[in-house]
Amino acid sequence: MAVLADLHVHLLAGLDDGPQTQEEAVEMCRMMAAEEGVGHSVALAHQNEQYPLVTPSRIREAASLLSQELLRARIPLEVFPTAEVMVHPDVVHDFTEGRLLTVADRGQWLLLEMPHNLFVDLRSIVRDLRAAGVRTILAHPERTPELLHEPGAIEELINLGCLVQISTGSITAPPSAAFERALKDWITRGIVHLLGSDGHSPRRRAPRIAAAAELINRWVPGVHAEQICTSNGLAVLRGRTLMLHPPAAPRRRSWFSRLWT
Ligand SMILES: [Fe+2]
Repeated sequence: MAVLADLHVHLLAGLDDGPQTQEEAVEMCRMMAAEEGVGHSVALAHQNEQYPLVTPSRIREAASLLSQELLRARIPLEVFPTAEVMVHPDVVHDFTEGRLLTVADRGQWLLLEMPHNLFVDLRSIVRDLRAAGVRTILAHPERTPELLHEPGAIEELINLGCLVQISTGSITAPPSAAFERALKDWITRGIVHLLGSDGHSPRRRAPRIAAAAELINRWVPGVHAEQICTSNGLAVLRGRTLMLHPPAAPRRRSWFSRLWT
């Protein structure tokens, strides 16, 4: 498989619950490049009320320091400053005020996650953000049952211009058989656009991606897998146009299969 792109990994030392030292961050990057086959990656930090001191300028500065460190250590990994923004009532206002960092700092995409254990109807926020000039990447929406299991819910967000980024752990260690089935259905129907390890540290939550990429390649071999694991991510990171196909319609399930989910 081609060099992978990781669209969700916390790599900025001391900024959030990711690596606490630059040594740990570099160790994660070495692991990504040498063991996981990643060539391009976001360098994320959370922007939410738990980390009020994480500003776009601090993320830019930390990502730039990390890039210099990677050059020095000859680790072939390109990293791009990015925030993982938690949805809150003023998110659109904060974006227009320049308080939120977009993916790769390009002003095109905002990586948005749901508040923990809470479902928010994102439709109006996604519309308002788009009107303000930025489109949304949904960070691991498969963790939200209302989006994973409600027919048509994720499609509606995609139709509003969202991209879907799923976590590798959801593929390699799904929490239930019903979850696994639903996620595989998303992948085969073209719902999923991007892959991210959601790595936070070299050990506790390591940035593993290769095994999930292999499974995706088994489920949707060839170009489709390559788009999810590499080229869509690269297009987002480099600010290029994405070649997207509309997702296939959900399969109608028989009354018999409904008994099991
Ligand atoms: Fe994250």
